[in-house]
Amino acid sequence: MQTTFCGLDFGTSNSTVACALAQGAALIPVEGDKFTIPSSIFFDFDEGGARFGREALRCYVEGIDGRLMRSLKSVLGHPLLDETVRIKRKAYTYGDIIGLLLAHLKRAADAAAGAEVTHVVMGRPVRFVDDDAEADRKAQDALERIARAQGFAHVEFQYEPIAAALDYERTVAEEQYALIADIGGGTSDFSIVRVSPQGRAKADRAEDVLANQGVHIGGTDFDRLLSMKAVMPHFGLASETKSHFGGKILPVPNGYFVDLATWHRINLLYTPEISRELLDLEKRSLTPGLLRRLRGAIEARQGHQIALGVEAAKIALSAEEHGAIDLTEIEAGLVIAATRADLQAAVETRLASLRAASAETLRQAGLDAERIDAIFLTGGSTAIPAVRAAVTAIAPKARVVEGDMFGSVGLGLGLDAARRFS
Ligand SMILES: Nc1ncnc2c1ncn2[C@@H]1O[C@H](COP(=O)(O)OP(=O)(O)OP(=O)(O)O)[C@@H](O)[C@H]1O
Ligand SMILES: [Mg+2]
Repeated sequence: MQTTFCGLDFGTSNSTVACALAQGAALIPVEGDKFTIPSSIFFDFDEGGARFGREALRCYVEGIDGRLMRSLKSVLGHPLLDETVRIKRKAYTYGDIIGLLLAHLKRAADAAAGAEVTHVVMGRPVRFVDDDAEADRKAQDALERIARAQGFAHVEFQYEPIAAALDYERTVAEEQYALIADIGGGTSDFSIVRVSPQGRAKADRAEDVLANQGVHIGGTDFDRLLSMKAVMPHFGLASETKSHFGGKILPVPNGYFVDLATWHRINLLYTPEISRELLDLEKRSLTPGLLRRLRGAIEARQGHQIALGVEAAKIALSAEEHGAIDLTEIEAGLVIAATRADLQAAVETRLASLRAASAETLRQAGLDAERIDAIFLTGGSTAIPAVRAAVTAIAPKARVVEGDMFGSVGLGLGLDAARRFS
């Protein structure tokens, strides 16, 4: 019998797909022989058409004329979803562009299955939108609509941490309470689940799920916060300008810097109006060199290059105490020192929210911390020592288990799809 279903983890930063193959559910190659693909798309202005994943990032970094987009999951549940962006002569909504990414993943699933995959279990964060159930429901509805438009006739959803729990459950030899923490690019999600060898065979797991909790904090926020603290001051953040009349001194508006430091908002800066506004600010600036650098980077479409430099430094700081944000592609000699302590100071308020969210998960489950046997970690941001410490502090005696940082959720969604559809 041919597979017609899959699990699909459309992530803010990376995506995976798992199909039921002869050996059971398994991740399938989604870019060449790789089992993960960056959730990025590049519209190539020279050759036309769209590139995906690592190839999209490579085209952008090599300076091919075109437009890069990344972190589009962040616009789900946000009014930006229905806004249009002009790519050459064509207007796309952000939802259309998410559709192109999902269609690309579906092609990989169809190829692996050797048949059209019509049924999918898609991952979703526990909350697309914090504290707004209506906006959250709209976000899931929008994602379902987009998936259906790509040919998935039957779309079901599963919380991403529950999917990760299903992956973890394959490895347990006895019943245990597990806190699952999935700290990704856009969201941090927690579940407390009773996992057991017998549980694997059960169709309905509702009674084994004791708590779900999620907050809109992830690696892309850490990138933004590090950028605002360490990089944006070099582009004029908090600098001053003379007002048009009377020579009063005013601060430069913050919005340009927030957009430039936020992956999914970078493209909003690439308009002739913004260029004109920045030129006007530059003329009145007390430090015009900084604003010239800002305008230059925006006009050269180098926003993602800055974000990639910040992200690379953040990742390096997971392993090293000292690092540098290399922006020499933007300007010769522009290398900004950054330490792990700088990163930690920039993200401290978010770490406090992570601690609160994991504590709330435990409270919802009605368990004492001592009852948690294992903490299962997945998601790229769990590599950050301070993030890991914030999450594991809640149950200090529990065993910490490292999942597949980028694959657990997708594989778990594949297991779930097999359970629901086979
Ligand atoms: N070694 C590392 N140290 C710190 N951060 C890392 C490391 N490796 C990856 N990351 C970060 O992890 C994030 C991506 O993780 P992941 O692929 O789990 O997210 P995602 O599944 O795409 O997002 P979400 O589940 O929130 O939608 C990015 O922000 C990336 O910068
Ligand atoms: Mg994820």
